[in-house]
Amino acid sequence: MEPAMERAMEPDNSPMIRAWEGEVGQLWVTEQARYERMHAPFGSTLLAAAQLRPGMRVLDAGCGMGDRTIDAATTVGPHGKVVGVDVASPMLQVAQHRAVELGLDNARFIRADVQTTEDLGFEEFDLALSQFGVMFFADPYAAFANLCTALHPGGRLVFTCWQDLTHQQHLMVPLTAALEHVPTPEFTADNWSYAAFSLADPTRTQALLAKAGFADVEVQPTVAPMYQGADLSDALRFLRQSEFGDAVFGGAGPAATVQGWEAVATALAPYVREDGVFLDGAAWLVTATRT
Ligand SMILES: C[S@@+](CC[C@H](N)C(=O)[O-])C[C@H]1O[C@@H](n2cnc3c(N)ncnc32)[C@H](O)[C@@H]1O
Repeated sequence: MEPAMERAMEPDNSPMIRAWEGEVGQLWVTEQARYERMHAPFGSTLLAAAQLRPGMRVLDAGCGMGDRTIDAATTVGPHGKVVGVDVASPMLQVAQHRAVELGLDNARFIRADVQTTEDLGFEEFDLALSQFGVMFFADPYAAFANLCTALHPGGRLVFTCWQDLTHQQHLMVPLTAALEHVPTPEFTADNWSYAAFSLADPTRTQALLAKAGFADVEVQPTVAPMYQGADLSDALRFLRQSEFGDAVFGGAGPAATVQGWEAVATALAPYVREDGVFLDGAAWLVTATRT
């Protein structure tokens, strides 16, 4: 990460930034390999739509630990460049380390808030991409307008974001089982897992991107099996320590908690395969062009 490039951050996104800088980011770092495998099918869809070529200049928004930044840097080669932007320093450190290990001199990482950093680059990029990194903005219009300015006219925006919670088999199966035993959790807007669904409505996303300066906005559904763990106990261990465990079991008593987790285990059992536990996730693939 470039300390000189560290930018001021507005208070607006502070709850989300605190989460990603803190416990949430730490969990992602600890579980890097799991998250990478979990999201890999959506990464393939994203990369196919991105149409990366040698020499391209690419911005990866909410790059996290750099899964797609690294893919992009590998493809664009030494005559191209890729900049990964994220608010979470622990994740950026992992991304930076991985790029260095791979000898990718054309990748660099900046700690910045996409929403409040107006100088992400002026018409500097051919492509802005993001794998699930653009749903956490308090002011999404400002964030997408910044991404638009960073692209040259005709430059493309390609990202994945989540469909509605009710379409997420990987969450609804354990949630439905748990709710037989524990009270329905209340989500608040500053909860990161709730914010993850902020772009679930394609009509709203289309209007938002048009207002931010994009044309030819297309939103296509993409559903894929998501890796949850090596076996049932690994998948359960992950769920217990993730937001799901806190949100769903936080208000439950000890007996209900035991029964609830037993019900979750029973519900997940049919999804165990030889190569791990897989349940479907449902995303949108969004593509647009800067006017
Ligand atoms: C769901 S993770 C996805 C990370 C990565 N793209 C991946 O697919 O593994 C969301 C990422 O967005 C980042 N993020 C959240 N709000 C942001 C903001 N305002 N500006 C830049 N990055 C942000 C988080 O720190 C986190 O790394």
